[in-house]
Amino acid sequence: MNKLTKPLYYADYLNLDLLLNAQMPESGKYGQEAHDEMLFIVTHQTYELWFKQILHELMSVLELFSATPLDERRLHIIAVRLDRIVRIQLVINQQIGILETMTPLDFLDFRNVLIPASGFQSRQFREIELRLGLSHHLSNVSFGRFNPEDAAYLERIAEEPSLFEQVEAWLSRTPFLESEGYSFWNSYRRAVDRMLDSDAEIIRTNPLLSEKEKQQQIAEHESTRQSFASLFDHQLYEQYRQQGRVQLSHKATLAALFIQLYRDAPLLQLPFRVLTRLMDIDEQLTHWRSSHALMVQRMLGTKIGTGGSSGHDYLKATISAKRIFNDLFNLSTYLIPRSLLPDLPESLLRDLGFYRDRH
Ligand code: HEM
Repeated sequence: MNKLTKPLYYADYLNLDLLLNAQMPESGKYGQEAHDEMLFIVTHQTYELWFKQILHELMSVLELFSATPLDERRLHIIAVRLDRIVRIQLVINQQIGILETMTPLDFLDFRNVLIPASGFQSRQFREIELRLGLSHHLSNVSFGRFNPEDAAYLERIAEEPSLFEQVEAWLSRTPFLESEGYSFWNSYRRAVDRMLDSDAEIIRTNPLLSEKEKQQQIAEHESTRQSFASLFDHQLYEQYRQQGRVQLSHKATLAALFIQLYRDAPLLQLPFRVLTRLMDIDEQLTHWRSSHALMVQRMLGTKIGTGGSSGHDYLKATISAKRIFNDLFNLSTYLIPRSLLPDLPESLLRDLGFYRDRH
């Protein structure tokens, strides 16, 4: 790359003139400027800058994921970029603490001049939600809080493949689950049956338990058996999916389970890392929703928000309703101890990299 003759100046490179003159407190227009409004603006602006960076990473991950087949080098870059998103989230989640140095009374000095503007209208935040895979309906895109241009933009984004959909398609293509003389499904199912039978036997023969305690534990054990049943019964699983109890397809769920169970195999380590990062992103977003909701309660109590929602109550409900990779968390229900895990056939072990030449 050739260096340009004109020496670059720090402030020009970063466009600081524009950036540092972009804070315009509203309160000053109506009388005395509220001291804390600057903090309120700077905090929101830094969030938006980090949202921009998150979208930059997310778009590249979506682009990398769109390739079929997906080779390992791409998967490595995907894992690195997802990790970067998590690190950014850790930083922005901390920022709420800075804003909480503003007291509710200080906030009231300028709150009314903000109406009807609200974080509700953060286009980048909604885009992150949609690109990750939150459904159109849940992301409130059609609620008409946006200006027509932003609403049209988000409606368009909602139609594009999300990370959730791409991950699901990638998982569904996972090889190794069925090969000549081997079916992960059958061998896993036998191992689960053995584990559940042995657990039931332990309860039945435990001399320390009273008859009543035994009955209680057997009932609990039966409910564990039922949760496995939904995994083994394709029809039941689809029923759950239609009811919205699970989102990930049955095939993708099995592949994710295979990756979790055999993640020590060299070829599965990267897929495992990717799945873990997706859970981290979901977890950090959930932490943000929770901290933001608490901050809102601290600032507003039960008052409604400037954007017209019920405020804290609305935000509290989004904490559990707006999960994206919830199914990956719930996979732990189906994990079985390593000691009970069926061995993989030799040919598969070779494919998964256990027998690679060491020189
Ligand atoms: C004093 C500080 C804050 C208060 C009192 C506050 C209040 C609220 C309220 C009440 C809502 C619900 C919508 C409404 O009725 O307006 C909301 C939504 C939202 N706020 Fe804040 N907020 C604050 C700071 C922030 C910050 C720093 C950000 C960072 C960008 C932010 C981003 C958002 C987003 C993205 C939503 C939409 C959440 C969703 O619908 O799931 N807020 N805020």
